Amino acid sequence: MNKDIREILITEDVLQSKVAELGAKITEDYNGKDLLLVCVLKGAVIFVSDLMRKIDLPLDIDFMAISSYGSNTQSSGVVRILKDLNTAIEGKHVLIVEDIIDSGLTLSYLVENLKSRGPESVEICTILDKPDRRTSDLEIKYTGFQVPDEFVVGYGLDYAEKYRNLPYIAILKEEIYQ
Ligand code: IMP
Ligand code: MG
Repeated sequence: MNKDIREILITEDVLQSKVAELGAKITEDYNGKDLLLVCVLKGAVIFVSDLMRKIDLPLDIDFMAISSYGSNTQSSGVVRILKDLNTAIEGKHVLIVEDIIDSGLTLSYLVENLKSRGPESVEICTILDKPDRRTSDLEIKYTGFQVPDEFVVGYGLDYAEKYRNLPYIAILKEEIYQ
């Protein structure tokens, strides 16, 4: 797989220390609160599994799968729930865990959807943020790294379902995206 990589943007070590830092902040902020991590499948799977082990609090985890219609590299904002939560979230402090926020359309939809179910709070934790591309107004409580407007893979993020298992964040060679 390494032969497909043009450049490593964030190394494994740098990712891991940021995840520990985010976990420590979340531990402080949610002390005494009924915390539910909502992992957005599939991209956030790697991040949430690292992050939850850095949160020193009792917590629950649940999963949602959503698809936003669009091409391989751009989302359209039309969102469909493929897999919903297994549990009610009333009274819970929900923290959505995401891989990357690009236009923000997918997450805006998800936040509104979850808020309508009566939780105590809904916040967002994303490992990557592409602020240049934001088209919707979104408040992000925890961000790992800001990345430039380039398509990135690894640490859960895919291109055509591949490269999720790279332990770092990278940009692929031009010819791979053809
Ligand atoms: P948004 O609705 O435009 O914010 O799209 C967010 C979703 O698009 C993310 O959860 C990813 O699944 C996908 N995505 C956006 N940018 C990238 C990228 O650079 N690499 C891989 N997936 C991406
Ligand atoms: Mg995703």
